[in-house]
Amino acid sequence: ANPQDDTSERLHEVMGLAARFYREQLKPSRRAIDYLKRRGLSGEIAARFGLGYAPDEWQALQKIFPDYQAKTLADAGLVIDNDQGRRYDRFRDRIVFPIHDRRGRIIAFGGRILDKGEPKYLNSPETPLFEKGRELYGLYLAQKPIRDEGCAIVVEGYMDVVALAQFGISNAVATLGTATTPQHVHTLLRQTDRIVFCFDGDAAGRRAAWRALENALESLRDDATLAFLFLPAEHDPDSFVRAEGTEAFRKAAGNAKPLARFLIEELRGHHDMDAAEGRAAFVHEAAPLVTRIAAPLLRLQVIKSVAEESGLTQAEVEHAFGIIA
Ligand code: UTP
Ligand code: MN
Ligand code: MN
Ligand code: MN
Ligand code: MN
Repeated sequence: ANPQDDTSERLHEVMGLAARFYREQLKPSRRAIDYLKRRGLSGEIAARFGLGYAPDEWQALQKIFPDYQAKTLADAGLVIDNDQGRRYDRFRDRIVFPIHDRRGRIIAFGGRILDKGEPKYLNSPETPLFEKGRELYGLYLAQKPIRDEGCAIVVEGYMDVVALAQFGISNAVATLGTATTPQHVHTLLRQTDRIVFCFDGDAAGRRAAWRALENALESLRDDATLAFLFLPAEHDPDSFVRAEGTEAFRKAAGNAKPLARFLIEELRGHHDMDAAEGRAAFVHEAAPLVTRIAAPLLRLQVIKSVAEESGLTQAEVEHAFGIIA
């Protein structure tokens, strides 16, 4: 067999054993159980997502890995070697969210602190199994619901995916503390023709939405719709679905703002459209974005919108784009 395969086999095995260990540590920990209850999570949903608890110990993994110095543990990102050559567990006193690949194998973990503290979430480092910009948390469980519903919902956080699932919305996945990448969009568009981005209602969430738009332009298709659901400022999907309920969330997702409208409205908002200077700057800012839209018919539609908004003809806009972009 190829040595590469042997390595990933071993890494998968180690990750699976660690996940089982963390799962088993959940029930005996009063603090962990209380935390999950306070977050409103049922035992059923915790089990479905394989949630666990990493004990408050420096070398808890020694209990299941007698060869605690093995290189594989470091390669898997489960332990950290300090400057003095001392090794300790990466995840300590945290709720652990296993991250699966699309075949259901565990490739990484996210760990949430139980109380206040930094960082709130600690994730596995990039390893041979885990490339952050490619993976989506929850996709293993969500892929069938995504195909059945004909829609994928993209959220920011682990808790958002789990809470939505508990409320019967099982087609949600999360980016892993990174921006939405072109690979994320590509992966999802292989399963469905509708993606709804639903980030937190805060300023960071709105920036994340714009980044997702920018990164999606080159993956757009004329037979697919990407849309953006903007939550009230105080909410993320988890808090929104708990406050407003399943039907309110579904309705909001159904009414999400299509990408082309978001693009035009956002750009228009940047400029004084009553002034010639503002309209010129609007076209200038639109050029590099619109020319990256990979879907030819949607690109044409957006060019028409830019023309209407700027008071130019479509031919003038296309000419301008040819010069600028
Ligand atoms: P949020 O801070 O919005 O987390 O970050 P959340 O999911 O709403 O967390 P709760 O509800 O307080 O538990 C969104 C996502 O960004 C990544 C995580 O993936 C998190 O779910 N993140 C956030 C990190 O990786 N590290 C951090 O320190 C914070
Ligand atoms: Mn946030
Ligand atoms: Mn939250
Ligand atoms: Mn959040
Ligand atoms: Mn501008």
